[in-house]
Amino acid sequence: MNLADLEARPADSAVPPATPATGDRGRGRGRTDDPAVAVEPGAARGPASDTEPLLSVRGLTVSFRARSGPSRRTTVLRDVSLDVRPGEIVGVIGETGSGKTTLARAIVGLAPSDAGVIDVDGTDIRRLRRRARRGFRRGGAIRFVFQDPLRALDPDLTVGRSVAEGLTVAGRGTRDEQQAAVADALHRVGLDPAVADRLPGAISGGQRQRASIARAIVDNPRLLICDEPVSALDGSNRNLILRLLDTLRRTPAGADSAERDRLGMIIISHDLSSLAGIADRVVVLYRGRVVEDGPIAEVFSRPRHPYTALLIASAPSIRDEHGPSPAQLRRPADQLADRPGERGRPADACVFAHRCPFATEACDHTPALEPAVPGWTVACHHEPTWRSALSTNPAEAAATLTEGVNNDAR
Ligand SMILES: Nc1ncnc2c1ncn2[C@@H]1O[C@H](COP(=O)(O)OP(=O)(O)OP(=O)(O)O)[C@@H](O)[C@H]1O
Ligand code: SF4
Ligand SMILES: [Mg+2]
Repeated sequence: MNLADLEARPADSAVPPATPATGDRGRGRGRTDDPAVAVEPGAARGPASDTEPLLSVRGLTVSFRARSGPSRRTTVLRDVSLDVRPGEIVGVIGETGSGKTTLARAIVGLAPSDAGVIDVDGTDIRRLRRRARRGFRRGGAIRFVFQDPLRALDPDLTVGRSVAEGLTVAGRGTRDEQQAAVADALHRVGLDPAVADRLPGAISGGQRQRASIARAIVDNPRLLICDEPVSALDGSNRNLILRLLDTLRRTPAGADSAERDRLGMIIISHDLSSLAGIADRVVVLYRGRVVEDGPIAEVFSRPRHPYTALLIASAPSIRDEHGPSPAQLRRPADQLADRPGERGRPADACVFAHRCPFATEACDHTPALEPAVPGWTVACHHEPTWRSALSTNPAEAAATLTEGVNNDAR
C-alpha cells in the first residue's frame, strides 16, 4: 500500500508536527493556532518512566486459522511487548493490516492469543480461567472505545441506559447510584445530562463519540483502549475528542484518587499528527511485530527504525523538512532483484527486509527488539548506522552497511 495513505486527513488534523525541526524535543508538542482546540503545550504529560506499568504485555503472539495456503495458521502478532503506565497515553501506529486492532482485541480478551503475558495490575489475565476472565471483563478494568460510536451504543436504548450498561451488567450500585454515575460520566465528557434521555440517533456524531467515551469510563476503568477514536469525525470534533481524552487521563476519577489511579490509554490511530499532540509514547507495528517503541516526540523527530522513518517521511503533517525523503528510505525497484524477494528469504529474516534499502546479509535473521537508549527500543541490526548510509542513491546504502559489517567482523 501507499504509506502516504496512512495519514488520514492531515490538512485539518489536531496539532502541528510532533517536534519542530530545530529540535525542541517534546516541549513544543501540541501547539495549535486555534485556542479552542489547543492541547496545552508543555503541560505535564505522562508519568515518570519508573512508575510501575498498569498494563504490561510480554511476548504476545496471536494466530488465526489460515483460509488458504500451505500453513494451517496465520500469525498476525508475534512476540509483541508494550507497557502502559497510569496517566500515560501510548499511541500504536502501523499500516493497515499490521495487527493494531488484533492487539487491542487480544488485550481485552476478544481475540484468542497463543502465547505471552498480559499483566494488568499484577494479574496475568491470559492465565485466568473462563469464569475468572469473564469476571475480570465485567469488572471493567479495561474498556474499549470504538471508531464508530454507533457500534458501542445500541440504537434502541437511550444514551443513559447505554452508558449505564457496564454498571447494570456488573450489578453495581442501586438504580439511583447508577443514575448518578451516568450523570457524572456525561458531565466528565462534557455532555448535558439531559442527553441521557435521547436515542443515539437523535444526537450529533461528536456527541455520540462523547457518549461512547462516557460509557467506557462510567465504572472508572484503569485502562482505555481507543481504536481509531477520531477517524470517523470531522476536524473540529476530532480536536475536541482528543482534548477530552487528554483531560481524562490527567484527571483522577475521584477526589480521593491517587496518582496511581490515573487512567492509562492506548490510542490506535492512522493520524500521526493527532497522536503527536497527546501521546507520550508510540509503538510502531509492522506486520505484527513491534519494530520501535519510544517517546513519541523523539521517535517522530528522529526515528531509529527505517520503517518508522519511512512512515514519518510519508506523513506531510509531521515530517521534518530536513529529514530523509521517502525516496531515500524506499528500496528502488531495480534493487529488489539484488537480494532475495520475500519468498526466497529465510523465514526468520527481518520482517522489513524485503522493503528496506539498508538490508544486508545480517538482516536474514530477525533483529531483537533492544534498547537503543533507555526507554527507547528498536528492532534493527543497523540501528546505529543506517542513517550514515543514507544517500541520494539508495543503491549505495546497503553496500556502505555491508562494508561496515565486514569491517566489524575483521
Ligand atoms: N478473526 C480473524 N481471522 C483471520 N484473520 C484475521 C482476523 N482478524 C484479523 N485478521 C487478520 O489479521 C491481520 C491484522 O488485522 P488488524 O485488523 O489487526 O489490522 P489493523 O492494523 O488494525 O488494520 P487497519 O489499520 O486496517 O485497521 C489482517 O491481515 C487481518 O486480515
Ligand atoms: S534489520 Fe536490516 S532489513 Fe531490518 S530494518 Fe534494519 S537494516 Fe532494514
Ligand atoms: Mg484496525
